Amino acid sequence: MKAGIVGATGYGGMELFRILSTHPQISQIMLYSSSRAGEVYEEMFPRFAGGSRHELQDLDPEKMKEEQDVLFLAAPSGVSSELTPELLGGKAKIIDVSGDLRLRDPEAYQQWYKKPPAPVETLQEAVYGLPEWNSEAIRAAGVIANPGCYPTASLLGLGPVISENLADPSSIVIDAKSGVSGAGKNANPLTHFAHAQENFQIYKVNQHQHIPEIEQQLSVWSGDTRPVTFSTHLVPMTKGIMATIYVTLKEEKTAEELHSLFLKYYESKPFVRVRRPGEFPATKDVYGSNYCDIGVTVDPRTNRVTIVSVIDNLMKGAASQAVQNMNLLFQLDERTGLAPHPVYP
Ligand SMILES: NC(=O)c1ccc[n+]([C@@H]2O[C@H](COP(=O)([O-])OP(=O)(O)OC[C@H]3O[C@@H](n4cnc5c(N)ncnc54)[C@H](OP(=O)(O)O)[C@@H]3O)[C@@H](O)[C@H]2O)c1
Repeated sequence: MKAGIVGATGYGGMELFRILSTHPQISQIMLYSSSRAGEVYEEMFPRFAGGSRHELQDLDPEKMKEEQDVLFLAAPSGVSSELTPELLGGKAKIIDVSGDLRLRDPEAYQQWYKKPPAPVETLQEAVYGLPEWNSEAIRAAGVIANPGCYPTASLLGLGPVISENLADPSSIVIDAKSGVSGAGKNANPLTHFAHAQENFQIYKVNQHQHIPEIEQQLSVWSGDTRPVTFSTHLVPMTKGIMATIYVTLKEEKTAEELHSLFLKYYESKPFVRVRRPGEFPATKDVYGSNYCDIGVTVDPRTNRVTIVSVIDNLMKGAASQAVQNMNLLFQLDERTGLAPHPVYP
């Protein structure tokens, strides 16, 4: 299969290139750049040298959609909403890693992203690519909206309790933390080394653009459209997300019962690992991998559940989940080309 990457010079695009370079079903990779066409990727990033050379190409939607079997769009929000409509109708299947195609409601996109939304017909074509919950629709899709990093960790953590209607919907609190690569390769005052190192800060309180994405999927599972509390923090580490999630149960459950519930949903899912009762994961347990690790317990004094969900934001939160989606789109084993073990230390 031939794959193309838009945004290959960015953090997500580089991870896509790294994974696709050794994917057994990928015979050719084309890299596109809006700012550095003509330059050689391996000279720009010597860490990728040693194999074939890739000259960065201009974006030409007419050619791209006919020459490639799959196109990954890893550009900032606002790009895919304009580019995807031009890529439809060709040979290529499209996997968008940005937030442009995730929200079904164009007005919600405008409100949270402060940008013009993609056309409604494009949004209607896009399938939300959370493989553990949506693999059937993904297999039949032509366009995938790859989930955001925070939503991936949060939704995989909440899925079992929400879809079983065990939680009081007004009680959901997601307390999430991310490493600085979540903001992409360009430094800003918040992610600049001098500010971020030895620092721990909350940002975008009640304003984060991932809030409507999480609420949208929760309402698909429960039918309940009540808002959630979702807070994001920047941690002085390069990669990794931890979502610590609190929900109050409608009825009493033991930690063992909750553990069994999570196993029921995830035992057969190769990339979600549920910890034994009383055990909780750390971000380094999934570093550089497509895994989401989850620990769950309940405090019998408050009847409140604590769910801890960790991912690598650039992998399960972006690039490797996009490849998992590609595998499903092309009817491959979803594990194909996704190295099994995380990097440690
Ligand atoms: N970082 C994460 O953890 C993460 C996780 C999940 C999802 N995402 C989403 O994935 C997307 C990429 O994130 P990132 O962290 O990789 O960002 P990034 O490091 O800033 O890279 C984005 C790349 O997009 C390209 N680009 C910029 N403007 C463009 C345009 N007008 N048309 C085409 N390409 C353009 C740039 O490459 P050229 O200048 O070479 O074109 C740039 O290298 C974003 O939408 C982000 O929200 C990121």
